This record gives sequence, C-alpha cells and structure tokens, in this order.
Amino acid sequence: MAFSFNFDIPLNAEETTDKESTNDKAKYVDPKCSEASPTVQKKMKNALEHKPLLDPLSHLENWVSETITIGSLPPLLCLNESVFERTAAEREDTEEILAKTLTENSDLISGVYEGGLKIWECTYDLLEYIDDEGEIFSGKRILDLGCGAGILGILALKRGSGKVDFQDYNSTVIEQLTIPNVFLNCENDSDDGETGEKNGSPPTKKKALNASQKSLLDCCGFFSGDWNSFLALMKTKNPSPKYDIIFTSETIYNTDYYSSLHDVFCDLLAENGIVYLATKNHYFGVGGGLHMFQKFVEQNNVFQIKHLKDVEQGLKRHIVSLTFKK
Ligand SMILES: C[S@@+](CC[C@H](N)C(=O)[O-])C[C@H]1O[C@@H](n2cnc3c(N)ncnc32)[C@H](O)[C@@H]1O
Repeated sequence: MAFSFNFDIPLNAEETTDKESTNDKAKYVDPKCSEASPTVQKKMKNALEHKPLLDPLSHLENWVSETITIGSLPPLLCLNESVFERTAAEREDTEEILAKTLTENSDLISGVYEGGLKIWECTYDLLEYIDDEGEIFSGKRILDLGCGAGILGILALKRGSGKVDFQDYNSTVIEQLTIPNVFLNCENDSDDGETGEKNGSPPTKKKALNASQKSLLDCCGFFSGDWNSFLALMKTKNPSPKYDIIFTSETIYNTDYYSSLHDVFCDLLAENGIVYLATKNHYFGVGGGLHMFQKFVEQNNVFQIKHLKDVEQGLKRHIVSLTFKK
C-alpha cells in the first residue's frame, strides 16, 4: 500500500534528538513490575485470540506475494502490501483501518491503526542480525510482539521453535496479513505439491488444511488488542506463557505505550529469556526512540539493556537486547 512515512523523517530541521530530553513524556514505573505499577496506557482495544480454521487465502482473488531472502535464512513469503490497496473495497474492514489508511494516506493513526500492514525497516535489520548470529530457535517459545506481517515469528517457526505467538494491535492485521502469511509459509513448507505458491502467482484454491499446515498452525497463537489487554488475557491462561524470546520491531515510537510494553516484558519473559528489540534511533514527529526507551528501562531497573548492533546508514537504527537483571 502506498502509505506515507509520517514519522521517519524530521518534520522540520530543528527537530533533533535534543528535543527528547526537554519533551520527556515517559512515565516512571515501579521496579516491581506490573503488580505495583500505575497503568499509564488506558485500555484502547480489547484483546482477542484468533483461531484460523480455513485457508484464509482461498477466498482471495489476485493476491501477490513477495519473497524475502536474507543471507542463509530460509526464504520468507509475505503478501505484498499493494494487495490491500487494490482489494480494500472487497475486504472486511470492521476496524475501518483499510479505508482510513487509504483516505488519510497514513502509516499510523494512534489508537486506531498502529502500522501493522507494512513491513518496517528494522524488521530487516533484525533478520540480518539473526542471520549473522546464527540464532537457533529449536524448542524455544517465541512471542512476535507488535508483529504486523509476522516475519520474525515465521522465521522462528521455520527454524524449529516450539511455539510462536503473534500479537498485533489490529485484528484486521492479524486476520488479513499475519495469518495468511503464516499459511503462505506453511504451504511453501508442505511437501504434497498440491498448492505451493510458486513465483508469486496464487496457488490453487483450497478450503481445508492439510496435515502439514495443521501441525505448523498448531504451534501458533494469534492475538490482537492493546498490550494491557493482551497481557491481561495471557494471564488468564493456565499456565500463563513465559517466552524464551520476545521479538519486537519498531514498537517504541510512542512514549505513552512504554509502561504497558514494559509490563508485557516483565510478566511474559522467561527468567532467562531475552527480548530482541529493533528500533530507529528517533521517531520524528512522535517523540519516542531508543534514548527515551532506554531511559525508561533504566529508571525501572528491572532489565539490563545491551546494544547488539547499530546501523549508521540513513536514519540511525539499533538492535538491543533486554534481559532480567540478576
Ligand atoms: C510500526 S508497526 C511495526 C510492525 C512490525 N513489527 C514491523 O516491524 O514491520 C508497530 C506495531 O506495534 C504494535 N503496537 C504499537 N503500539 C501498540 C499498543 N499500544 N498495543 C498493542 N500493540 C501495539 C502494533 O501491532 C503495530 O503493528
């Protein structure tokens, strides 16, 4: 989709990272995590668990996929974002985000649409980092938090992780992009030769899942909703999940959400787990960025934050890890 980038570039030349220190909106959260912390982010969108039953691609005409190939990583298939622009009128749009993103030509409408319909730059940085490090996911439980297209979780799935949960703010993103992408990649992995999408052309239509798709999908959970509601939903599960790895890419642009994001890390990361966070240095026009988030994390004193990779070309970007302080 031809979304505009409305916070990748400075709105005016004076807006520099120096502004961050004078415009410090990040709220302090008690070090003991969510039990004692004030809920700063109000409830915005109730959490839902989505259960894919039928092939979500089977009713779609004229969709196009692209293949992401990075180093030695397995090829990752993804619906091309132009599909949404072309087919918005035919699609279910109960959240009205397809219509709004088109009319407002926007990458992000705070509290309405949080940007999940396109793949953001830092996801590619994180894929490259994973390729360089040769991260193995075997048997690990993974959360792709703020997943959008779900590419990081899909990679983990393909690399043998035990279970992958995908979360996005918007149910439309989960149902119309994340789940179809998982299907696309399952189809690619299936060896029955019946439906595999080849060279970007749609596969033969089919309605039921084959055994290979089903077993991969059994390893996945799909959730929409804001992070407060998502966390509350996960805490109702018995047992409540603890993730070995939480991936989160381009999710720290809004300082108002830092408290709820931090709460998710506190409550859902396994004791020896790791958060991989990929981010731009600064989100112009929105106010968040690594400096603000790092300050927030340090004030809370729960996690150790470590710089893993800095990308200097273009707008500065970073990959950092968070692990519990011992
Ligand atoms: C800019 S998009 C990035 C999507 C994807 N991670 C990528 O890199 O391509 C930010 C994502 O963070 C999630 N997000 C942001 N704020 C959120 C909030 N307050 N509650 C739940 N999810 C949120 C949304 O799901 C959204 O897809």
